Amino acid sequence: MKESLFRKKSIAEALSRANSDKDGLKRTLSANNLIALGVGAIIGTGIFVLTGTAAANYAGPALTISFVISAIGCLLAGLCYAEFASMIPVAGSAYAYSYSTLGELIAWFIGWDLILEYLFTAGTVAVGWSGYVISFLNGIGIHIPASIAESPFGYDVHSGWYLTGSIINFPAMFIILLMAVLLVLGIKQSATLNNVIVFVKVIVILLFIGFGIAYISTDNWVPYIPEQTSFGHFGFSGILRGAGVIFFAYIGFDAVSTAAQEAKNPQKDMPKGILYSLLICTVLYVAVTLVLTGIAHYTELDHPAPIAYAIDKVGSGLQWLSPLVKIGAIAGLSSVVLVMMLGQSRIFYSMSKDGLLPKFFSGVHRKYGTPYKSTFVTGIASAIIAGVLPINILGELVSIGTLMAFVIVCVSIIVLRKISPEVNRPFKTPFVPLVPILGAAICLLQMIFLPWDTWLRLILWMVIGFIIYFSYSIKHSKLAKK
Ligand code: ALA
Repeated sequence: MKESLFRKKSIAEALSRANSDKDGLKRTLSANNLIALGVGAIIGTGIFVLTGTAAANYAGPALTISFVISAIGCLLAGLCYAEFASMIPVAGSAYAYSYSTLGELIAWFIGWDLILEYLFTAGTVAVGWSGYVISFLNGIGIHIPASIAESPFGYDVHSGWYLTGSIINFPAMFIILLMAVLLVLGIKQSATLNNVIVFVKVIVILLFIGFGIAYISTDNWVPYIPEQTSFGHFGFSGILRGAGVIFFAYIGFDAVSTAAQEAKNPQKDMPKGILYSLLICTVLYVAVTLVLTGIAHYTELDHPAPIAYAIDKVGSGLQWLSPLVKIGAIAGLSSVVLVMMLGQSRIFYSMSKDGLLPKFFSGVHRKYGTPYKSTFVTGIASAIIAGVLPINILGELVSIGTLMAFVIVCVSIIVLRKISPEVNRPFKTPFVPLVPILGAAICLLQMIFLPWDTWLRLILWMVIGFIIYFSYSIKHSKLAKK
């Protein structure tokens, strides 16, 4: 039994299986496509929604420092991802890496955990998308009734569950299913649409930065680090809490690695896709936060659409930018949904190829070359999450799940350097073991600061995962059959 739990798939085997799979995924993505996929997955709710609340409640103008701290944690983990993605360029990301390093049980654990990241992020962001679309449509005189634009269940941290009186969040379900159809039609088509969307959202952000600078009042940056009012609110502790909250804004760079089996030249291009997208977004995030907190005093920014609020505050000078920001946000959130679902379907695909999930999940469409069955399962599950569940409790669950995957990837780098030093590593994480240890420590620290009930939900999710593993996967594993 102990042996089965820790059996490993050798790297050579993982690579040869991925390369010999003639009916499998197609290699069509270039380095630029991969960078765009990263930016597509990263820039979304974090910058368009969360920045205002985080500045107003936790860090003030020093939210820029929170963004840098969070980026350092992600960059350290990103360097570890880059080594793995260039060394084992197969679909499945952290799941596949841990299968070759830490063994089957941990791999299952991570695969199951990644569902929290991808499936629930797609759902969460789709709800944000629905909010922006409804506000945009309202602006042009089209009113969607609240009964079909909100989930039926709500959750309040003080009073618990309640009924909202709505039936379903239809727009959120719509965007998910639309993206699922697109993903089935082809990875190339999906990547092309993603490129267009990324172009739109980056231009909108650059316009805001470029034209917003003129309206900055430096008085709004004083004090830069407001005095702490209670623990986690302003001062140094507030900067750290802010970093934990806006960690969500960086989630997604790792999704690039799930497309490794569809990259033309993964050895060279995966590290570029992961690291460049992370760097581009960090620079944009810090610049947006500087302009935002410069235009409006941080105490005014507790707003679900902070960028739009800042523009309205400026008045006629920037009013022309207002509809563009809404379009940028709508486009931006669509690509997050798209790339997250792409990631999830590839994780299901890989787990099914290894026998840990039923064969159904690895069916590839003859004509389109995409894992259409797992894409539809992903789409339906995500749509249900987005249409019915209260999303506020899911955001933290997404963060804890993602952070755990990062910790395991960092640890795996050290393990693999020890047990398989001979494997060809086209990209090497610098300063091992310092970088992975620091990366794991920063991520672990952010996990520790998350609320206790998030931990409980994570444990519950993992217990369900273990029940499935011990009742199905352990027996059906391809490695078991050997
Ligand atoms: N980073 C993505 C966002 O902010 C998940 O929406």
